[in-house]
Amino acid sequence: MNASIEFVTPRIESRLPQVGTTIFTVMSGLALQHGAVNLGQGFPDFDCDPKLVDAVDQAMRSGLNQYPPMTGVPALREGIAAKIEALYGHRYDPGSEITVTAGATQAILTAILATVHPGDEVIVLEPSYDSYEPNIVLAGGKAVHVPLDAGTFRPNFGAIAAALSPRTRAILVNTPHNPSATVWTAEDMRRLAELLRPTNVLVIADEVYEHMVYDGAQHESVARNPELAARSFIVSSFGKTYHVTGWKVGYLAAPATLTTEFRKVHQFNVFTVNTPMQHALAAYMADPRPHLELPAFYQRKRDLFRAGLAKTRFKLLPSEGSYFQCVDYSAISDASEIDFCQWLTREVGVAAIPLSVFYRGGFEQRIARFCFAKKDETLALAIERLARI
Ligand SMILES: Cc1ncc(COP(=O)(O)O)c(C=O)c1O
Repeated sequence: MNASIEFVTPRIESRLPQVGTTIFTVMSGLALQHGAVNLGQGFPDFDCDPKLVDAVDQAMRSGLNQYPPMTGVPALREGIAAKIEALYGHRYDPGSEITVTAGATQAILTAILATVHPGDEVIVLEPSYDSYEPNIVLAGGKAVHVPLDAGTFRPNFGAIAAALSPRTRAILVNTPHNPSATVWTAEDMRRLAELLRPTNVLVIADEVYEHMVYDGAQHESVARNPELAARSFIVSSFGKTYHVTGWKVGYLAAPATLTTEFRKVHQFNVFTVNTPMQHALAAYMADPRPHLELPAFYQRKRDLFRAGLAKTRFKLLPSEGSYFQCVDYSAISDASEIDFCQWLTREVGVAAIPLSVFYRGGFEQRIARFCFAKKDETLALAIERLARI
């Protein structure tokens, strides 16, 4: 080989030119560098139930290590259908209406790729989870941003109605909501159903925090509203429910006609999701107690964290659901949210996420998001540091 020849990697035009390193990676890196308590990225710092790990071990040792059916292990799809029916009163057929996915992230991308054609519009309520917009762009669609009401983060149905157009293909609804920790009510769902009645608009319902709703309220799954269920893809995640975010197993529930299209993309996207985890989850979810006890488990942590924060100079926003707690820091600093969160990580030793990153235009409200899915001692250490400000 001639050493003087330089082989050149062809330049490519980015499909996602706006996307860089996510703030979650940046803040986690900064937290590590400064020994900060990481309340930034949303994942537990405690382990899952050892029974779940034993069930994976058992599945692997009993030879359940090859490709499962494309749509998911039948026992798991049956378990998911039974759970949805028990909780929300809507029966999905495990054969034609439930699909096991590689986490909620893949389910959302696949639902968008399966339904959004180039030029279609998809309504995204802001602030929003960061994968929605790039997913829509990859499908050739256009994200139409509609802000949730400032201050309360409640859906503004007048604004949603104004954003609907003949090109609207879908609306993404996330309840309980990341990052604001608000929860949609039955009345919100009724109004959404009424608004969409004369349209062909689909709903992609991101319900990954379905088992984290507090103070006796119930999770308003779109499955509870038959009119919405008929036009909805429901997405959920075992990662959130069973403290195994790294397993990346989730699911999609949708009427058969929508599921058929979803599976066409799923088949050539991931094809199947890992077998032993699916068998383990099927065995584990036969007992409903872990998901039924989750609201109390996280409500206790939320209350512990809020009681500690009440002694600091942060102003607490409500946390009705999810495992997030937003705080207003305007009494402490008038720095931008990104600058404040970086300062908090470096100088105070607690990592948080700026709310502005959940807005495409980087809207500033002096609000930061903490994740309280942490051991009590982690929360206590964070509070001790935050109280010094
Ligand atoms: C609102 C929302 N949707 C989806 C996901 C992704 O879930 P999964 O890890 O199952 O892909 C997350 C994770 O943070 C989330 O907060």
